[in-house]
Amino acid sequence: MIQLSGIKKSFHDLEILKSVDLTIEKGEVVVILGPSGSGKTTLLRSINCLNRADDGTVAIGDLRVDLKRPKKHEILALRRKTAMVFQHYNLFHNKTALQNISEALIMVKKLPKKEAEAIAAEYLRQVGLADKADRYPRQLSGGQQQRIGIARALAIDPELLLFDEPTSALDPELVGEVLDVMKAIAGQGRTMLIVTHEISFAKEIASCIVFMDGGVVVEEGPPEEILNRPQNPRTISFLRRLLPEDYSYTI
Ligand SMILES: Nc1ncnc2c1ncn2[C@@H]1O[C@H](COP(=O)(O)OP(=O)(O)OP(=O)(O)O)[C@@H](O)[C@H]1O
Ligand SMILES: [Mg+2]
Repeated sequence: MIQLSGIKKSFHDLEILKSVDLTIEKGEVVVILGPSGSGKTTLLRSINCLNRADDGTVAIGDLRVDLKRPKKHEILALRRKTAMVFQHYNLFHNKTALQNISEALIMVKKLPKKEAEAIAAEYLRQVGLADKADRYPRQLSGGQQQRIGIARALAIDPELLLFDEPTSALDPELVGEVLDVMKAIAGQGRTMLIVTHEISFAKEIASCIVFMDGGVVVEEGPPEEILNRPQNPRTISFLRRLLPEDYSYTI
């Protein structure tokens, strides 16, 4: 089980996360929805210490980290137990597809190069890019680059995969191939925390939908509840803006 408790973060006196709690069971796929600026990215980045939270804890299995004062070895342990897929892929441009994955394994898991490359090749195959191992990111489409980003995260074999709007930088025709890879991963029983605006994908894949606004979790529950029978006026107005023609709630 993964437990986030009391996560708080301010930037320049502005409270962006106001004590966020979230429990994710093993194998669960949790989708976070919420308007721009609601703190979704800040929450994901706080979980693996890409930004330093002002307060809160993350517990993953028997690892429990005080995010306010994480020790160096705890940050490393968190990075082994979580892996992030970024909106803009965040690949090394001067490294090949294979090296992007193997270098992460060498860095995070301290694996020898040969072993890291063998694992990297296997995960490239899993995302359908075995034949692109020697290509550089600039020689690949956005969808292919993001699939490398996903393979890199998977290769770490983390207990929690974090996705921050993995398809929002892609041309519409490339979104499907990335969502398909994510569906396959969910089918393998991986635990995933996904920020996305792809509502129909969320409906299909999520075991739980969390709606965030103004740095708090406003509402959470199974997709059919949150998407079909939202209770909170903020959730209703968000869904209405996102899907004006499908949703006709009255507040
Ligand atoms: N490093 C930073 N320095 C200052 N302010 C920041 C920083 N990172 C985020 N913020 C602010 O925190 C707020 C929440 O940002 P965050 O990126 O977490 O929102 P989000 O929900 O991911 O939004 P979006 O849907 O646009 O990605 C925004 O107002 C943003 O300007
Ligand atoms: Mg964001």
